[in-house]
Amino acid sequence: MRYLILTDMHGNWEAFAAILRHVRGEEFDVTLVLGDLVGYGAGPNEVVEAVKNSLWGEVHVVRGNHDKVVAEIEDGANFNQPALAAARWTTERLLPANLRYVRELPRGPMPVSDEVHICHGSPLDEDAYVFSIYDAYEIFSHYEAPVIFFGHTHIPSLFVRHEEGIEVAVVQGESFTLKLEKDKRYLLNPGSIGQPRDRDPRAAYMTYDSGTRVARWQRVDYAIAKAQERIIRSGLPKVLADRLALGV
Ligand SMILES: [Fe+2]
Repeated sequence: MRYLILTDMHGNWEAFAAILRHVRGEEFDVTLVLGDLVGYGAGPNEVVEAVKNSLWGEVHVVRGNHDKVVAEIEDGANFNQPALAAARWTTERLLPANLRYVRELPRGPMPVSDEVHICHGSPLDEDAYVFSIYDAYEIFSHYEAPVIFFGHTHIPSLFVRHEEGIEVAVVQGESFTLKLEKDKRYLLNPGSIGQPRDRDPRAAYMTYDSGTRVARWQRVDYAIAKAQERIIRSGLPKVLADRLALGV
């Protein structure tokens, strides 16, 4: 099975469209979307409609914390001011069918196969951030799946559980591949499409081939200036445009 793994688009249609163009011509059996389709960016309707209509094969989607606040499932009391302002803006602008789609997104974790499970933050708590080896240790100790794809931190990263312990890496560069081994377990994060935070402003995504067991991280250039201009023109907080150019 060939998987395409997408996460944290955050309403950035220019970034998401660049990735859809980048993978055009490839074949995928399954597309996994790890949440935060909306919130921050000025193109939430385009992003939701592409998730609904333009992905490959079987499509599995879990909700993110921004999706919940935009859908008013949660009130965003823990959000900073620009994030909350963007969520409110998005709730008002989403077309009714798209808002309903976001509201009905399922909670993670979600098993996709015997091997692959997906979640937004952590399989133990959809809103928790997985940054440290200890975070990963807790997950590997309490959740059995061999390969877990997660998002939420916006940092392309990997955690590998093997007999001697846990290895962690932040994945850098335009492209990186990892061959998964049968006797190890993995927590893999593609990084964010719409709001990267690893000081690389390029949009990030992953693919995984369960036959060859090769996972690939990929970065893609996109029209950052256009996404910034739309944010500013829409009256969204300017800081949300500024950070796109820095990847923070
Ligand atoms: Fe996010």
